[in-house]
Amino acid sequence: MRIDTDAIVVGAGGAALWAALELAHEGVQTAVLTKLYPTRSHTGAAQGGVCAALGNLEEDHWEWHMFDTVKGGDYLSDQDAAEVLAREAIERVIELEHMGLPFNRTPEGKIDQRRFGGHTRDFGEAPVKRACYAADRTGHMILQTLYQQCIKAGVRFYDEYHVVDLLFEGGDANEGGRAAGVVAYRIADGEIHTFRAKAVLLATGGYGRAWRITSNAYSLAGDGMALAYRRGVPLEDMEFYQFHPTGVYGIGILLSEAARGEGGTLLNRDGERFMARYAPRLMELAPRDMVSRAMYLEIRDGRGIDGKDYLFLDVSHLGRKVIEEKLPDITDFARIYLGVEPLREPVPVQPTAHYAMGGVPTDLSARVLRDETGALVPGLYAAGEAACVSVHGANRLGTNSLVDLLVFGRRAGKAMAEDVRGGTLPEIAADADEPVRAEIEALRTRAVGERPDTIRAEMTRLMDEKVGVFRDATLLSTAVERIGELRERYARVVVADRGTTFNTDLLETRELGYLLDCAQATAASALARKESRGAHSREDYPERNDAAWLAHTFAFRRDDAQPDLRYKPVSITRFEPKPRTY
Ligand code: FUM
Repeated sequence: MRIDTDAIVVGAGGAALWAALELAHEGVQTAVLTKLYPTRSHTGAAQGGVCAALGNLEEDHWEWHMFDTVKGGDYLSDQDAAEVLAREAIERVIELEHMGLPFNRTPEGKIDQRRFGGHTRDFGEAPVKRACYAADRTGHMILQTLYQQCIKAGVRFYDEYHVVDLLFEGGDANEGGRAAGVVAYRIADGEIHTFRAKAVLLATGGYGRAWRITSNAYSLAGDGMALAYRRGVPLEDMEFYQFHPTGVYGIGILLSEAARGEGGTLLNRDGERFMARYAPRLMELAPRDMVSRAMYLEIRDGRGIDGKDYLFLDVSHLGRKVIEEKLPDITDFARIYLGVEPLREPVPVQPTAHYAMGGVPTDLSARVLRDETGALVPGLYAAGEAACVSVHGANRLGTNSLVDLLVFGRRAGKAMAEDVRGGTLPEIAADADEPVRAEIEALRTRAVGERPDTIRAEMTRLMDEKVGVFRDATLLSTAVERIGELRERYARVVVADRGTTFNTDLLETRELGYLLDCAQATAASALARKESRGAHSREDYPERNDAAWLAHTFAFRRDDAQPDLRYKPVSITRFEPKPRTY
């Protein structure tokens, strides 16, 4: 089937929904395609808060938020983008409040705010209460609120349509082509549908499932990033991947940083608050890259609990009221997954793969960049975790993911509305869906080959062991080489389910291909970057090196070879790079 519309939004998390809402308000006919039911999107898993310098409890200014974002990002953030983020966060949060989002409140009825890692007053002096929150379900509430607004505005949703290819007019992105639509696989019956539009937004989230211990849901497979990459769009700064310090030990499910924001502590086997040795001023509220590194060093030096590879998060001293009113979900997670009672006992935690700072490169209006010169791919947009604008630089601060998707999701919607006005629909061939249709058919019918499970298990173990918190040339070269081999084996993969009805075996196998593409870009970009900055920590190059590496990586895909890497200068408008201490 072929469907024509003005705009397409791929994904249904916060960035996608705010863009769709903006388009609806501008009267643009829009199709939202999502492989999940919209309210199951991963924005719903964000817990602790969304930062905005409202100053409801303490003095605060957007300039402080901007500074913290830039310093937190180890000076790789584009400062024009960080300024937009910090300024517009305030308007977006108030808008959400007006849409009805049930924020926690102060006794006077203002939005309550709490501390979060790396968010400070007076340019780094002391922690500030900046995170607006709805218990530890902030992302869930944002998702529900935006979805309700979309329904009210009449947005057209195509639920459980898995986008499997991007279409261009006049050649792929690297050949100067213009985005023209998408091909989608309807999960219910395996039918292929072609959607044509004047503008396409990728808001498909991250690729945390490339690692074994991760906070990410199964669906986070880098779809949008990989589909764009395969069509000639580069991926920016993929070496910067965030490990959240407090995942549930052994499985990685997120235990919000809000626990530390409320006063929770991290303890080693001696009961010591070890962060005093790594970040004496901010302690447990230092940025995530630093806390995760400190945790690894404690474990490596034998100070993990019982000498094992985990530490304790202790909230027992916060009292029942704080825990039940402000941290109810994570308390339940500890009970359910670990059988631990946080009211009385410390919770075993370990760093968990959490968030991609890198992604599809965009400008401040979420328009996708074709290369490091800033040339655009007409009609193509990206926002949220799938995108790299680059506001988070080398390390994102907690809560800034939600800010990013609100601010740049809305900007994407506005720019797309402008773009489609008066334009004509692109030309696409009647058989534009043929290449991906053939690929899917080959996968469905291939009789002999390897099952995807073994490749997935090897990839995730490799990423945990070799592309984790600490890296060096030996680990990364092995990762690059072995991911290359896994990609070759993936070309001969077979599925067990040959059917067309809810064939999740087939779709998960395709997702594995996306993950391998993202993993390869990550490992290759990391091997090339010979310095330590933010979340990219090279033990063989332990210092940040601004003279050589104050630049964004652009990785361009090549079919049978490692990606081609090029570099783009960082936008520095207000804050000159300085050593980063907390
Ligand atoms: O810890 C958390 O609540 C996560 C927040 C985030 O990733 O921004």
